Amino acid sequence: MNVSVIGAGTMGNGIAHVFAQNGYKVNLIDVSEAALEKAIATITRNLDRQVSKGSITEEIKQSTLQNISSHSSLGAISHSQLVVEAATENEAIKLSIFKQLDEIAPEGCILASNTSSISITKIAAVTSRPELVIGMHFMNPVPVMKLVEIINGYATDAKVTATITELSKKLGKVPCVVNDYPGFIANRILMPMINEAIYSLYEGVAGVEEIDTVMKLGMAHPMGPLQLADFIGLDVCLSILQVLHNGFGNPKYAPCPLLVNMVTARKLGVKSGEGFYVYTAGSKDLVVSPRFGNQ
Ligand code: CAA
Repeated sequence: MNVSVIGAGTMGNGIAHVFAQNGYKVNLIDVSEAALEKAIATITRNLDRQVSKGSITEEIKQSTLQNISSHSSLGAISHSQLVVEAATENEAIKLSIFKQLDEIAPEGCILASNTSSISITKIAAVTSRPELVIGMHFMNPVPVMKLVEIINGYATDAKVTATITELSKKLGKVPCVVNDYPGFIANRILMPMINEAIYSLYEGVAGVEEIDTVMKLGMAHPMGPLQLADFIGLDVCLSILQVLHNGFGNPKYAPCPLLVNMVTARKLGVKSGEGFYVYTAGSKDLVVSPRFGNQ
């Protein structure tokens, strides 16, 4: 099977890595040559780590890299049986990409989106093949996280769901099939938890470290909710909460004003260098942002 991955950011490069490591030929496509170069460097670094940990051999690393080709135009999808879109989490951008994918992709090609919250039914509706459109939601970091949340749009054909389910297993992942309602399952449950953690900070119930420590040690979460929000990106968290809030019309999903302020101030977490914590390149130390230092 020939697979195309659209978008060479964090999710796109992780998805390309996993397909290629499992023997699939992958076209990694991004409009930015710089993003493509960065993605290949990231994949190489992650493969090196896997080799040094002994989880893969040097030969697997080499074959994985050989399975990936970089392209800056969508024309590369013309021989693919599957396209996985992992572009920016922006509805207008995704709808425009799917319109183009539908025009270029061969007949029968499945069009999957890695969206974390945009409606698969809405994405499918801009194509002439809604029965072949499906959600394939990987978790970050893709090479590590076992889950693939598979989202059935209103018109998704059951055969397509079965194909993507089997394919996810071949990638060494555990697929979970859900239906297309706001936030699906992963983010319908995760984002209210993160929002509640931010509200707890905003209302002065506890400090950043206390909130994260309670959830890490009390509930065995690998990261506390505030660190996880920084890792996901505070802008992404805000946009998913807005999808939940608008989609259900229920005030319980209203984003915390502190989250809104932080995104407005471009304090977006790891990617901007500051969120609830501050991040210094090359350091693994978790340092609470001075803004929240004296809770
Ligand atoms: N590629 C390959 N391997 C990687 C990797 C990557 N990008 N990042 C980490 N690893 C591997 C490491 O090599 C290490 O492997 P071993 O177990 O074989 O030693 C393992 O993962 C753990 O890594 P580290 O020791 O460096 O660090 P850690 O123990 O602190 O774990 C973590 C890091 C895996 C990110 C862990 O903190 C974690 O699981 N955090 C929660 C992640 C999470 O919840 N993700 C979902 C976010 S929500 C989402 O993605 C969807 C959405 O829609 C918002």
